Amino acid sequence: MPELVIDPALLPKDGRFGCGPSRTRAEQLANFVSEGAALMGTSHRQAPIKDMVGEIRQGLLDLFRAPEGYEVILGNGGSTAFWDAAAFSLAKRKAQALVHGEFGSKFASSLSAPWLESPTVVKADPGSRAELYLEPGVDLYVYPHNETSTGVIAPVVRVVGADDALMLTDATSAAGGVDFDLAQTDVYYFAPQKNFASDGGLWIAIASPKAIARIEEIAASDRYIPEFLSLKVALDNSRLNQTLNTPAIATLFLLNDQIKWMNSQGGLSWAAARTKESSDLLYNWADNHKLAKPFVSNPDHRSQVVVTIDFDESVDAAKIAKILRANGVVDTDPYRKLGRNQLRVATFVATEPSDVRALISCIDFVLEHM
Ligand SMILES: Cc1ncc(COP(=O)(O)O)c(C=O)c1O
Repeated sequence: MPELVIDPALLPKDGRFGCGPSRTRAEQLANFVSEGAALMGTSHRQAPIKDMVGEIRQGLLDLFRAPEGYEVILGNGGSTAFWDAAAFSLAKRKAQALVHGEFGSKFASSLSAPWLESPTVVKADPGSRAELYLEPGVDLYVYPHNETSTGVIAPVVRVVGADDALMLTDATSAAGGVDFDLAQTDVYYFAPQKNFASDGGLWIAIASPKAIARIEEIAASDRYIPEFLSLKVALDNSRLNQTLNTPAIATLFLLNDQIKWMNSQGGLSWAAARTKESSDLLYNWADNHKLAKPFVSNPDHRSQVVVTIDFDESVDAAKIAKILRANGVVDTDPYRKLGRNQLRVATFVATEPSDVRALISCIDFVLEHM
């Protein structure tokens, strides 16, 4: 029995608000049972699975309105594996990395590989962000589109004048929930356990012709590249609608289902409007509550897919998260290493704005009764 029982009339239809793995849609799972289950336990080298990978690749080009020549590459290991793959197959000599939280920082460390010069790190305090700048000798500029640990969004824009360099966007938690122009980056990569409402373990990268040329150039050089982390190997396999090694079939099915759903609803602009509506509800609530405020003070830096709310010291946010969890409203805890008196709420596309309204009512109820 929870220490405080929330009025059941206030509860959201679906109580999952975590930043990943995040909620799947009931229809997606129903489709998996009716159509996907038969694919389980069948070869990923045969037509049914390869056709599904082909649909995913085309569906993503449609969703992101990809300019001519952009290609979808995929492989196993999640975005973390992609960081190392990028260090092997995309960085030539030196990178510049934007860091204002845990994930940007992890990507910057994987670019500190022994065969590269130390990256320039452009740092900002968690909860804010800085800007990349043109730097001679840098051939790769990297940044998180959405810093999941803090809920800070960055614009997808090229560094002016960096025409010979590549732009790399870690879109793990932004992809599919935030609108942008793909022509403004060379590699937009992510994993499917967030807006795509699937499971972890896969990475997906949409690469420009310039990025593909870089992958080919480095593969032809004498740099040692482990096969698992070679983007040239991944590219060759992806063009055949395959992955180098065995993928999780269920993950692919759920990803494909979500892409088809998003495209049928109106694509990226529709998805972004929905996450904006959900996140605005939370930011407006926090802005107007005497015990809460948005952690990200600059409204322009606030994420529409990951909302972080600080609480007054008279309120124990961890206790709110614990009571919510005991009532089936889960994963509103802040990023574990941020160490703030905070709730963090994912407002990914699968979440209906009405569920965010219900969550707010639940938080109000807990604040009143705890
Ligand atoms: C922005 C960002 N980058 C990278 C990762 C790591 O992704 P994965 O767990 O798929 O390796 C995450 C995970 O939450 C993330 O939010």
